[in-house]
Amino acid sequence: MDELLQPIIDRHGGDPGQLLQILLAVQDALAYLPAAALTAIARALKLPRARVEGVAGFYSFLHLAPVGRYRVLFSDNITDRMLGSAELMDRLCNRLWIERGKVSEEGLVSVDTTSCTGMCDQGPALLVNGRALTRLSAERIDRISELIRAKVPLADWPEEYFRVDDNLRRRDALLNVSWPAGEAMRAAIARGAEAMLAEMKASNLRGRGGAGFTTQVKWESARRAEGQGEHLSRYVVCNADEGEPGTFKDRVLLSSYADLVFDGMSVAGLTIGAGKGLLYLRSEYAYLLPALRANLARRRQSGLLGQSLCGQAGRDFEIDIHLGAGAYVCGEESALLESLEGKRGVPRIRPPFPVSVGYRGQPTVVNNVETLCKAALIAVHGGAWFAGLGTKQSTGTKLLSISGDVETPGIYEYPFGVSVAQVLKDCGAGNAQAVQVSGPSGICLGMHEFSRHIAFEDVPTAGAFMVFGAHRDMFEVARNFAHFFAHESCGFCTPCRVGTALVANCMDKIADGRGSQYDINEIFKIHRLLHAASHCGLGQSACNPVFDTLNKFRPAYERRLRSLDFVPAFDLDQALDAARQMTGRDDAAAHFGLAARMKGCAP
Ligand SMILES: Cc1cc2nc3c(=O)[nH]c(=O)nc-3n(C[C@H](O)[C@H](O)[C@H](O)COP(=O)(O)O)c2cc1C
Ligand code: SF4
Repeated sequence: MDELLQPIIDRHGGDPGQLLQILLAVQDALAYLPAAALTAIARALKLPRARVEGVAGFYSFLHLAPVGRYRVLFSDNITDRMLGSAELMDRLCNRLWIERGKVSEEGLVSVDTTSCTGMCDQGPALLVNGRALTRLSAERIDRISELIRAKVPLADWPEEYFRVDDNLRRRDALLNVSWPAGEAMRAAIARGAEAMLAEMKASNLRGRGGAGFTTQVKWESARRAEGQGEHLSRYVVCNADEGEPGTFKDRVLLSSYADLVFDGMSVAGLTIGAGKGLLYLRSEYAYLLPALRANLARRRQSGLLGQSLCGQAGRDFEIDIHLGAGAYVCGEESALLESLEGKRGVPRIRPPFPVSVGYRGQPTVVNNVETLCKAALIAVHGGAWFAGLGTKQSTGTKLLSISGDVETPGIYEYPFGVSVAQVLKDCGAGNAQAVQVSGPSGICLGMHEFSRHIAFEDVPTAGAFMVFGAHRDMFEVARNFAHFFAHESCGFCTPCRVGTALVANCMDKIADGRGSQYDINEIFKIHRLLHAASHCGLGQSACNPVFDTLNKFRPAYERRLRSLDFVPAFDLDQALDAARQMTGRDDAAAHFGLAARMKGCAP
């Protein structure tokens, strides 16, 4: 074990803060994390064993028990489902003779689901040993089962299966950019930090990760904040976790505009006085790592990274990439910082905010990938130019990840202020009855709202735009989202941990035809509780899709309701059905409750 472990620990400088990266590397080598490896890692890093196991147990892509040599995970986002992912998963399980969620007897394969893989424009998709396969079809599934049964190494599978397209459908200020790497950084250096902050202020750029906080205020606060302890430093973190179902714009920026992303990080670093940038990449996008690392190496060689940037002494900036391990909550900025520090991704209590106490206790700016690209544009073209695009409160453009019932799914860039109806027309959504904007934690718009506008002052968005045609069942859409939140809740606070599970149960009960008005009332109660009492944004928004669809698509719920009174989730009489069949008895005394009365016997 030590022979395997030591080089990995050494590569990470024996740093306990690198625990997550170390666990990922050890798992890469051993296929899972045996108890002995956890003990050895704890010893080598001088950490309590429980801490190591706690981290390993938190992330869904880390395994404490043996898993199949081929680990197949179907993307379970609603748009993948609409494209037939559930049927394809059944087909693969049948072909391989295995049950979902179990490892096959010889340890060859396991098949299960995972939350959205960010391939909604080319789904249905799955991950096999962490690599994304797109555009699944029945034929492709049959071929995959043959490849697995023949134990063909992943490297020899048809390259076409792993093809990921950008699907750029509408370009505007950002996607039209083509300038040499480092251009924005050079512009920021020429301006100087204070002048760059002034341009950011003039631009009125607001964060593209969801909350829409003004970027200049964040940067200025981090620049003015005092560092902590002996090793004063500041950090820039690029949030490339992109876990919101239906969002895939950051994937495209990282794959085709990486220099713009790194330029944006460098501009932020130079402006706030940071020496280091950290890109937190969701593990579903790990296939981008080689290209991103090669890009960083090129930048280092050309003097765009490292010491004396652009030949100027004293201007140093490095960028590292950290990989996530399958936890949506790590997109929340303070949970992301915990994860970067090698801990469980549990959101921090705030204040203090990351701008004053962030990564390793130092002032840290956390920005979304798209926000940083926009900052690079502002460095080159200036704040006034940027403020001239979009609307007064929502300047610039916005990338939308469009998927669902549309003719041309993909990435569309619009100036803020575009109407929902215009977007629907452009992507060929002829019969839309609803649009889920900004993913499950966003807002569900019905037809009567299609004249509304994409902008912080009307319909804000982190980028997802999922379209549902008239033939879709909006109850099932909401049920999928309810299960997503219940699965992704980090469990730190009781309202969210329990509330998300209760909502998912209520939705299942209604789906099974055992729901009543009582369950609807319960959902409304839990919605209020989650909003008021959850520790972070995940819990606060977890009930939004159910609440929205209940208000806007109520018939989808009501036609499933059995009665307007309370109906228990567990039907004792129904549960005895199997026993009655086995004993061949169906007289009144073999029934309970109402069924017994109907058979003419008191309960
Ligand atoms: C549960 C949850 C998940 C989030 N996921 C992401 C994400 O994947 N990417 C992102 O940029 N922001 C995400 N955010 C928002 C971040 O916390 C943070 O606001 C953002 O990274 C700030 O960057 P910006 O100012 O550039 O928007 C998430 C927030 C919550 C509550
Ligand atoms: S609201 Fe949910 S995700 Fe957020 S801290 Fe609480 S349990 Fe974790």
